[in-house]
Amino acid sequence: MRVRPVLALSHTCTCPTGNTVRGLISRMILKIAVLPGDGIGPEVCAEAVNVLKALKPALELELSTALVGGCAIDALGTALPDDALKMAQDADAVLFGAVGMAKFDNDPSAKVRPEQAILGLRKGLALFANLRPVKAYDALLDASTLKPEVLKGVDLLILRELTGGCYFGKPQGASGEAPHRSAVDTTSYTEEEVRRLMIMAFELARGRRKKVTQADKANVMATGRLWRQVAHEVREDYPDIAYEDMFADACSMHLLRNPRAFDIVATENLFGDILSDEASMLTGSMGMLPSASLGSGLNRHGQRRGLYEPIHGAAHDIAGKGLANPLAMILSVAMMLRWSFGLSTEAGRIERAVDQVLAEGLRCSDIKQAGTTVLGTKDMASAVIERL
Ligand code: IPM
Ligand code: MG
Repeated sequence: MRVRPVLALSHTCTCPTGNTVRGLISRMILKIAVLPGDGIGPEVCAEAVNVLKALKPALELELSTALVGGCAIDALGTALPDDALKMAQDADAVLFGAVGMAKFDNDPSAKVRPEQAILGLRKGLALFANLRPVKAYDALLDASTLKPEVLKGVDLLILRELTGGCYFGKPQGASGEAPHRSAVDTTSYTEEEVRRLMIMAFELARGRRKKVTQADKANVMATGRLWRQVAHEVREDYPDIAYEDMFADACSMHLLRNPRAFDIVATENLFGDILSDEASMLTGSMGMLPSASLGSGLNRHGQRRGLYEPIHGAAHDIAGKGLANPLAMILSVAMMLRWSFGLSTEAGRIERAVDQVLAEGLRCSDIKQAGTTVLGTKDMASAVIERL
């Protein structure tokens, strides 16, 4: 029996009361867990909150915060304290900064790792779909290492599966002593995990340019063949959407060769991790890429519960210096307003303000170009706020 698409992906929403969200704005309380994490996370999260507070008419915010990641390990011995997970589960949406600390990267025997925070949140909130929109801004075409004529007009979305694959597959671990050490990771998927992601890909495509590329390694991996089979079954319900299979390695090449050819790239967890970092360079910098992680659960507003984070990571080399580009985090706030609160107008205002600062030649150091004005984190956020 074919499972029918049941996802409500529309941005204009109706609350359970039957009233439209716009009509409820004055009474709507946005309960948001802010989890800044490590490195530049706290700096960019603070500016995200400033942008939220600056929106007029004022949104009613109920903010809470907790330590997660390396700072939580240092203070509490665990990357994702129970209270932090509970806070995230109780909120309508989560704003997440970044996690990671070099001292853990360099210690292969560490039992606790900062990254367990984000992995635990994805699993604990059942956030199976990660939306990573990649849009080439005209103003930034020269900031990329790639040719402007290849980048102009790029507007794609990497839809990454987030709670399966080798990130969570068992067995996983290392054993033996040198010179006989070995390690294993397991990539496993159920057809239901594949199906819900592919349904989301096709539904999203309907609101975009109506094309889905499914990236797998069906020529080598059994999970790849499952992805392909299930994708083909789901596709039958979407005759209006153009569809192609692509091997993930070839996809990484075509993303650089002709990125405009892509609309939605749907793929499993690890390939999505890699392809989205690659695709971020189409925008000039990782500092520009927001993301939304969604499950099928709804929040108190009848909207999607979600976690919103920039994809750039902790960037310890510039942490605490006030240099970090806050735009990916600010654009993540826009995604949150749209997906978790149905506030598309407010989301659009933030996105247009970001367009405007870029068009006016304002930059952070990661995207600086000749003839532009380079701002620090705070000043860049203030510039966005002034243009809201
Ligand atoms: C990402 C990151 C994470 C991942 C890390 C921090 C665990 O690279 O969100 O892309 O691998 O998923
Ligand atoms: Mg990554």
